[in-house]
Amino acid sequence: MCGIVGIIGHTPVAPLIVDALKRLEYRGYDSAGVATIEGGALDRRRAEGKLVNLEQRIGEAPLGGLIGIGHTRWATHGVPNETNAHPHFSRDVAIVHNGIIENFAELRDELAADGYEFASQTDTEVVAHLIAREIDRGAAPVDAAHKALSRLEGAFALAIMFRGDDDLLIGARNGPPLAVGHGDGEMFLGSDAIALAPFTDSITYLEDGDWVVIRRKELRIFDMAGNPVERARQKSVGTSYLVDKGNHRHFMQKEIFEQPEVISHTLAHYLDFSAGTARDMAMPFDFANMDRLAISACGTAYLAGLISKYWFERIARLPVDIDIASEFRYREAPMNGRMGAMFISQSGETADTLASLRYCRDNNVPIASIVNVPESTIGRESNGVFPTLAGPEIGVASTKAFTCQLSVLASLAVRAARQRGHISAEREKTLVRELSEAPRFASQVLHLDDQIEKVARELSQVRHVLYLGRDTNFPLAMEGALKLKEISYIHAEGYAAGELKHGPIALIDETMPVIVIAPHDRIFEKTVSNMQEVAARGGRIILITDKRGADKATVDTLETIVLPDMPEIIAPIIYALPIQMLAYHTAVHMGTDVDQPRNLAKSVTVE
Ligand code: F6R
Repeated sequence: MCGIVGIIGHTPVAPLIVDALKRLEYRGYDSAGVATIEGGALDRRRAEGKLVNLEQRIGEAPLGGLIGIGHTRWATHGVPNETNAHPHFSRDVAIVHNGIIENFAELRDELAADGYEFASQTDTEVVAHLIAREIDRGAAPVDAAHKALSRLEGAFALAIMFRGDDDLLIGARNGPPLAVGHGDGEMFLGSDAIALAPFTDSITYLEDGDWVVIRRKELRIFDMAGNPVERARQKSVGTSYLVDKGNHRHFMQKEIFEQPEVISHTLAHYLDFSAGTARDMAMPFDFANMDRLAISACGTAYLAGLISKYWFERIARLPVDIDIASEFRYREAPMNGRMGAMFISQSGETADTLASLRYCRDNNVPIASIVNVPESTIGRESNGVFPTLAGPEIGVASTKAFTCQLSVLASLAVRAARQRGHISAEREKTLVRELSEAPRFASQVLHLDDQIEKVARELSQVRHVLYLGRDTNFPLAMEGALKLKEISYIHAEGYAAGELKHGPIALIDETMPVIVIAPHDRIFEKTVSNMQEVAARGGRIILITDKRGADKATVDTLETIVLPDMPEIIAPIIYALPIQMLAYHTAVHMGTDVDQPRNLAKSVTVE
């Protein structure tokens, strides 16, 4: 995680670096720092906590210089204090790093034995000292950096500069993403194109194992062996994006309210509403001739995949293996030529998802990805990309990306069903029409905001919450629990309602709210029985259902949130909204940092 920036410019760079870091703060916000070279000398400002603290520090003691590097941190090694904040220095060398140096302990011992003193507890500082040691042994900066890089094991994106040279920036990538931005007599390095958006839309993405030597008028990219390599320069699509909350109090709230629109864009990309068909588009695999689909992802994206298992299996009769990517990557699952693999990721940079993708690629399985950033590493390494058209998601808790992932997955399930001959043209038309109604239902549900806010007031008083659901509402129950715990810090669990009596029922007492997600579907009655079991033990039920469900639920509830009756296929997309709103308002009542909850980062580029 962490965000890094480097700029060689022709005006003072510190304010530009801070601006770029603001666009990267989603990657981590434990501390931040900027270093520049002015008059040949290295100088830096660092601050614990959010970027505003660093801005204040720079305001009090400005930094000059036409070259600089910056960092916003998500702590891995060492507590998030100022001493551990990047940039780290070692004599002539200044460095910022995203990733984890796995052999840092061994390198630290070696460097300490050679007399290099460590000021921080970070793994990054070993890289600065390694380069400094090569310089001390007589190497020129570029060679010193190359030699040091060859000693590193683990994941890294690095930006490095050298005292006395304000026309040299070195970048390196092994794992986490790194992009070079081409300006007019200026050059940039950044964790993503969005960071560089105000400066340039002309981007070169480094590949794994690349390192780059950047001067104002020169760009040379090498592989780890030191051979020059060519990487294409491309126009980034990230440039139109502005970090703006509009009239909303938080990005998360804005993103929740954007859902009718972005779901509509996404569905329209995959479905031809007038023809009543799933669009024909280039596919990396043929649904008609597949035995199994393997899906891997992390967190909320994994839960989108889990919901899609019900769709692919029920509608398309296509068996789906769904895994948490951090498990899949080491599971050594047998793969074969009649399988396809699909990876779901908002950022397209999640380390475990990427590693799972590479496992499948190494096993010759064709790869599709559903990503919100098509030019991300996962997007680029896939045989086919299905973009979610959610637009940039800034709030750390995923909302609109999730419902857009579901929109893509539902559309693909319809397409797979048709190609596999499991639905008629007539049925396809019906499903497409039903999906086309999702934006309208999403808008209607947003009108429940006041009622949900009142329920959230109750939730903000408790320490534990249980979410229950069956069928596609089971993954949604887990998503509700995940959303609540990550932004309100209230402990929550999501369970399949049928599992209640196999353990979690022991938790139920009169202090325990139980949120039941239960539209009136074919197994509604079963869920009603589970609610009765909860009610009999004094549990306080908050029921999220539809009009028919509300009429037929025979239990007393603390609150019943009634959604419109809607087609079954869109229910998981629409029912995601009240659970997001519930988590959002609860967090607001708790006074937590909704958009940047503690300990989390938006893009998880380390294992
Ligand atoms: C939760 C959340 C995370 C992400 C997960 C995967 O609200 O946002 O669980 O879903 O870290 O991230 P991506 O989708 O970028 O691979």
